[in-house]
Amino acid sequence: MSQTISASATQPGSATALRPIAELHVHVEGTLEVELMVKLARRNGIVLPTYDADVLREKYKFDSLQSFLDIYYENLAVLKTEDDFYDLATAYLTRAAAAGVRHAEIFFDPQTHLLNDIPIEVVFGGFSAALGDARTNLDVSSGLIMCFLRDQGADAAMQTLEQALPFRDSFIGVGLDSAEVGFPPSLFTDVFARASAEGLRRVAHAGEEGGPDYVWEALDLLGVERIDHGNRALEDPYLVARLRDEQIPLTVCPLSNVALRTASSDLSQHPLLNMLDEGLLVTINSDDPAYFGGYIDDNLTAMTEALDLSPAQLDTLAENSFTASFLPEADKIRYTAEVSKYRAER
Ligand code: HPA
Ligand code: ZN
Repeated sequence: MSQTISASATQPGSATALRPIAELHVHVEGTLEVELMVKLARRNGIVLPTYDADVLREKYKFDSLQSFLDIYYENLAVLKTEDDFYDLATAYLTRAAAAGVRHAEIFFDPQTHLLNDIPIEVVFGGFSAALGDARTNLDVSSGLIMCFLRDQGADAAMQTLEQALPFRDSFIGVGLDSAEVGFPPSLFTDVFARASAEGLRRVAHAGEEGGPDYVWEALDLLGVERIDHGNRALEDPYLVARLRDEQIPLTVCPLSNVALRTASSDLSQHPLLNMLDEGLLVTINSDDPAYFGGYIDDNLTAMTEALDLSPAQLDTLAENSFTASFLPEADKIRYTAEVSKYRAER
């Protein structure tokens, strides 16, 4: 998809002004573009079935979360060295900056790399260097959220947390991702309690394929501060009231929802407007942009076209993204003021 957010975000007379936004739901491994995958495979001597990017991309036709995850995990075998992790994160942050992203809270899946025999210090080394350089070179602030693969179980999650704690200063929180149904949040109560005791922020994917009960459990048993996806929360009016009353953010990913058929088969049927009408604190994000048709700007542009979003609604989504972030209050105020400035000068 093109970078057409500039069509709605560009200020008259200035081709460069972008609406500032935070991205809160992006899996760095899901930003592995086929071109970079081929480059890393060649660099690391890894055999791929083909080195033709277009042929590789043809496999990206999904009908469920699992159909995507199978390919996503397979592709990650090309990541071997600290430089590979650095290049992956830098490519994402560079592309995100071009979309107006001023702050990103980025998921990563260490268990996948550990299963590929990559030491955790290699993963942290590459990602941390990339995030540091993005702050200096791109003026983008960011933090890492370490996700547990729910289908690997609770013991593996706890072991992963233990292995990561020597790098405690390199990540801001923990999350829960991968196959959802059959792996409810309740399985992970102990590891989230441990993470909380370490001062880590907590989020979880819930209500992507699982029902509202998964969202309730994530809130009540894991103490999460944001719900990733959460579309199926709309099925339960009491849950909607809870999310609204406590202003618990939902990090929504429209192109992902359509690609994986988890919310609607068509963007025009996406529940975003219902969520906004219900007074929910919703943000728009890209999830796995290399697989689902685009980055955060592509998601915003596609939703603007499908749902006829107004500039004021786009401003609200941008403000929500900073409000829902884990930034210190002073930074939230500063970034929200940037959105106001953008609005005033539009
Ligand atoms: N859902 C759950 N787990 C994931 C996803 C997703 O969209 N992307 C990467 N891991
Ligand atoms: Zn996700």
